[in-house]
Amino acid sequence: MPGFQRIQYNRYGGPEVMRVEDFELPAPGNGEVAVRVKFAAINPIDWKLRDGQMKIVTGRAFPRAMGMDFSGIVTAVGNGVTRLKVGDAVFGLARFKDSGALGHALVTKEAFLAKKPDSVSFEEAACLGTPGVTAWNGLIDKAKLQANQHVFINGCAGAVGEAAVQIARLFGAVVSGSCSARDMERARSLGVQTVHDYRTMDLSTIATRFDVVFDTAATMTMSAGTAMLRRGGVYLDLNPSPGKFIRAIVDRRLKPVIGSPRADILEKLAAAAGERKFRIPIGEIVALNAAIQLITELEEGHKLGGKGLVAME
Ligand SMILES: NC(=O)c1ccc[n+]([C@@H]2O[C@H](COP(=O)([O-])OP(=O)(O)OC[C@H]3O[C@@H](n4cnc5c(N)ncnc54)[C@H](OP(=O)(O)O)[C@@H]3O)[C@@H](O)[C@H]2O)c1
Repeated sequence: MPGFQRIQYNRYGGPEVMRVEDFELPAPGNGEVAVRVKFAAINPIDWKLRDGQMKIVTGRAFPRAMGMDFSGIVTAVGNGVTRLKVGDAVFGLARFKDSGALGHALVTKEAFLAKKPDSVSFEEAACLGTPGVTAWNGLIDKAKLQANQHVFINGCAGAVGEAAVQIARLFGAVVSGSCSARDMERARSLGVQTVHDYRTMDLSTIATRFDVVFDTAATMTMSAGTAMLRRGGVYLDLNPSPGKFIRAIVDRRLKPVIGSPRADILEKLAAAAGERKFRIPIGEIVALNAAIQLITELEEGHKLGGKGLVAME
């Protein structure tokens, strides 16, 4: 299918390597689905991959596309695809290695997609993938969260943080957390019972001990996180490294989290979003020709108060 454009780069590097360029969409293979993208959401992982921080996984083949999260319409399905058909409205994630959500179309795994509920807009649906899946992987898959457990979410007003707050509340947990003063009201409105301002408060002075500490801001040290746990508690680390995985074998409190999409998670997130119990706020929407500028600004620390989205039509 000719005539498609996407953001891609021909070497690892900073914002200067991003280009909007033409590309050809391959036909979907076994278990794969082609999607015409309507909206893509920007995540920190997009520039971390482009910087080459994970080149051990992403390899040396260029050009490399960008973008993980999107919503759109299924345009073709490969052999073995059973849950989706051409014309379905969907949302989900690109494959980590291939990326490609920041473009007019992509091919991804059927298991990385769910149908978009009618009551959820394409804009809202595009925001859900990486934050929702990562929060679910941490709280439900790794920490096995139970009702009435007490969770501390470091960075509770960020995208993964807000997703974690809402998922923890859906499972009946009590939530405390940290964010900046500007975001405290938003955090409280999501159900964070006790909110601390991370800029003025030293987490080590919090006397409460938690069943789960989830560092969704990826700013805590392992020792600070585990010090906040009750006996039997779990520290969820979003900044995993090979060393941390080795340490986690002997220290059962430590659980490094790598976002790992699955159909069952995406379908549960879709259901919660459809019932208006799960959403990630939108900060700004730009066209594809302004997306490199927005990614660059976000990377430099500019705050939108919600997700940066790119409209593809
Ligand atoms: N391992 C994985 O698979 C995985 C998956 C998804 C994300 N991540 C990582 O998780 C991190 C968060 O991602 P995101 O999409 O949620 O980003 P985001 O939307 O930018 O949110 C980050 C939040 O952290 C807050 N924050 C910054 N410094 C803090 C501190 N010292 N204490 C408490 N909160 C602090 C920020 O607050 P301010 O606005 O006040 O700065 C912001 O609300 C990124 O590093 C991302 O790469 C990892």
